[in-house]
Amino acid sequence: MSLLHSIQLAPADPILGLNEAFARDARPDKVNLGVGVYLDEDGTLPLLECVRVAEERLTKQNRPHGYLGIDGMPAYIDATRDLVFGADSSVLARTASVQALGGTGALKVGADLIKQLNPGAKFLISTPSWENHRALFTRAGFDVEHYRYYSPGLRGIDVEGMIEDLEAAEEGTVVVLHACCHNPTGYDLSADDWGRVIDVVKSRNLTAFIDMAYQGFGFGIQEDKAVIDRFVDAGLEFFVATSFSKSFSLYGERIGALHVVTRDTDAAVRVLSQLKICIRTNYSNPAKHGAALVAEVLNDPELRRMWEDELAAMRTRIKALRSQLVAELRAEGITDMDFIAEQLGMFSYSGLTKEQMVALRTEHGVYGTDAGRMCVAALNSRNIGHVARAIAAVR
Ligand code: LMR
Repeated sequence: MSLLHSIQLAPADPILGLNEAFARDARPDKVNLGVGVYLDEDGTLPLLECVRVAEERLTKQNRPHGYLGIDGMPAYIDATRDLVFGADSSVLARTASVQALGGTGALKVGADLIKQLNPGAKFLISTPSWENHRALFTRAGFDVEHYRYYSPGLRGIDVEGMIEDLEAAEEGTVVVLHACCHNPTGYDLSADDWGRVIDVVKSRNLTAFIDMAYQGFGFGIQEDKAVIDRFVDAGLEFFVATSFSKSFSLYGERIGALHVVTRDTDAAVRVLSQLKICIRTNYSNPAKHGAALVAEVLNDPELRRMWEDELAAMRTRIKALRSQLVAELRAEGITDMDFIAEQLGMFSYSGLTKEQMVALRTEHGVYGTDAGRMCVAALNSRNIGHVARAIAAVR
């Protein structure tokens, strides 16, 4: 009897697997629009200046490498709570927060807690959603289904369909929502639509699990977290997973946080105690470096200002790239993709079919996901023309 002999070969990850294929591609003009990573005009991953200064300071301190607490670094956790809820928010007293291994780690720790509390819960994710949502929540032991979200016919959100699906959900269903810069579509709900979603979540007694991986990439740090304030004001219990991968360009540090908003302080204390068990039994306690960097930046007024400026610069440049791509596509005779300029965040949901995305990759070295998602944050003035010509060629 062999445990491993007949194990099946798993398919490559639909997003990160593209990085591996891209690395093997020898073409000099290849372009990686697969994974959600911001690259600068030179096509390189930026080291933010605020992070560079913070890192320099930390290095000078020659700090030893002791364990963090199970829930993470207190200065980091407090700073992330301020960023998500506001420094003076009364909700902080009823919120349990832990450092997590990126946004993905936060989602998984949250899912593990829900599994313990309501093992039969169903998860609802948007159609479409981030490729890893279904996989992650399924792997955590849940049935994952969809609510209607993006409609190709409407070239936008099917709000009526979404509300209908949420209204039909069983009590206790966990609804995964994107706070801003919806991944992969780039289409966000309006303030009025959010009001309707919150009403249904409340009346149907659903649990919202809000994924906020792109705070600051839509309209701004405060604007992009407006939905969190709305959930707080509605007096709901809910989960928020956040990430600093994109907003601090700290992808490899795996730095994020999970916040669980409860009804009162006592419940928050008990939730925190259970979250710590979820963490301890998975990876014991989180890593230090990313947390130390983010805490150093967010807790220093000058570095924080620098970060806000750098984040705004990334946001503004992505918007400019969107307009440039539309112009390049128009120069190629494509006049029905102007929507790219309206979408928010790092991605454009192009409407291209899987066959067209495969042709983009194999024939032109332009890598996007099979679902038609392209990371416009990886464009620059040297590759944008090639991308536009490649899109024109496969359509
Ligand atoms: C993405 O959607 O490309 C990013 O969130 C990276 C990832 O882990 O998938």
